[in-house]
Amino acid sequence: MSAESRCVVGLDLGTTKIGTVIAEIAPNKMPRILGFASFPSQGLRRGVITDVEKTVQSVEKAVRQAELMAGMEVREVFVGIAGEHVSSQDSSGVVAVAGADGRITEEDRQRVLESAGAVKTPIDREVLHVLPQEFIVDGRRDIADPVGMLGVRLEVQVHVVSGAVTAAQNICRSILRAGLAVRDIALEPLASSAAVLDSDERQMGVCLVDIGGGTTDMAVFSRGSLRYTGVIGLGGQNVTSDVAIGLRTGWPIAEVLKCTHGTASLHSVGEDETVEVPGVSGRPATQVSRRLLADIIEARMEEIFMLARERLGSNRLDLGAGIVLTGGGALVDGAAELAERVFEIPVRLGRPSGVVGMVDGMDNPGYATAVGLARLAGERSDRGEGQWPRGENLDGAGFEAVFGRMKEWFQTWV
Ligand SMILES: Nc1ncnc2c1ncn2[C@@H]1O[C@H](COP(=O)(O)OP(=O)(O)OP(=O)(O)O)[C@@H](O)[C@H]1O
Ligand SMILES: [Mg+2]
Repeated sequence: MSAESRCVVGLDLGTTKIGTVIAEIAPNKMPRILGFASFPSQGLRRGVITDVEKTVQSVEKAVRQAELMAGMEVREVFVGIAGEHVSSQDSSGVVAVAGADGRITEEDRQRVLESAGAVKTPIDREVLHVLPQEFIVDGRRDIADPVGMLGVRLEVQVHVVSGAVTAAQNICRSILRAGLAVRDIALEPLASSAAVLDSDERQMGVCLVDIGGGTTDMAVFSRGSLRYTGVIGLGGQNVTSDVAIGLRTGWPIAEVLKCTHGTASLHSVGEDETVEVPGVSGRPATQVSRRLLADIIEARMEEIFMLARERLGSNRLDLGAGIVLTGGGALVDGAAELAERVFEIPVRLGRPSGVVGMVDGMDNPGYATAVGLARLAGERSDRGEGQWPRGENLDGAGFEAVFGRMKEWFQTWV
């Protein structure tokens, strides 16, 4: 590793797997992969930690594997947060420019963002990110960065993301118990966006739909800024359990059938196509119509896309770059085609990119969040030290330190 390089680690705590990416960040902020591992996760339900002990064990194994590949020890990680507890809203703030010369300073920028981020949240919720959409200087709109401009009145429009305090605390607790420090936390759909969307799409208007195992996460961008984030409490695991119930088989067999013979495009399956369903507990294998399998998968995927379409409302017609599907659940055959029918706008499959030295299999959409976390970590790698030292007690001040860093996301996107 060269002297000016820094090392970052993205850790995706997914419902089905823990993805770990160790990358070296060159001075141009481009990550170069040094280590990568994916390990089945335990202890999470629908993107949220429900069993800290099991999560710790999965994190330890995933990180150890990536460390072996990178030939180095990991100390701090950049981790994702997701789940149905996450919600978002638009807010705005306004301040008078402080300096006598009327020149807007970094302090003015921070003050206006703080006033916009001061939204009322119940005691069990915390503001996670305050993401600027546009600054307005004396009525002039659409300003990306007002610092250095002359003005009297500085306004900002922001997107405020909040979530359950306990969910963030359990993430921090698990990481610390695994012997690591938390460098920063980012909303998972933002991380996935960083890995699969390009800046033209974010400018033209695009909706990222990350179909995970437990949840489907959405992030809408237009004119270069984040406009909406949302979580739907359904994902690939629901598709698998439908298959298990519909074909009267066990979960592991249903998962294999879905991935190898499944499709979300019923009309593409011939009348006479059959699939062998291995017998459970010594029973003989049976042949079932592949159309039945497709019918089950298509129905659930269609429901997920319909819910996502409802969230977008009529705004979806303004998305010039359409929909980008990612997450492991997007790998179901025919998913993009079905999504196009439901959304009635163009859909593409998004694979993670924007890093150097991807290893085999890493361009899988399921690793969008892990790769995106490494990219965001690279973007923020020059922002000083903010993590808790390992083994530090989980007191209130410690949590405040991490929440404080999350709120400092006052930058536009990579
Ligand atoms: N080839 C494939 N065909 C169909 N489905 C697939 C394929 N590969 C993975 N999946 C599905 O993708 C889902 C896992 O996706 P992903 O790895 O993005 O989830 P996660 O990040 O662990 O979960 P979450 O984001 O909800 O916390 C599983 O339901 C799995 O069945
Ligand atoms: Mg995920």
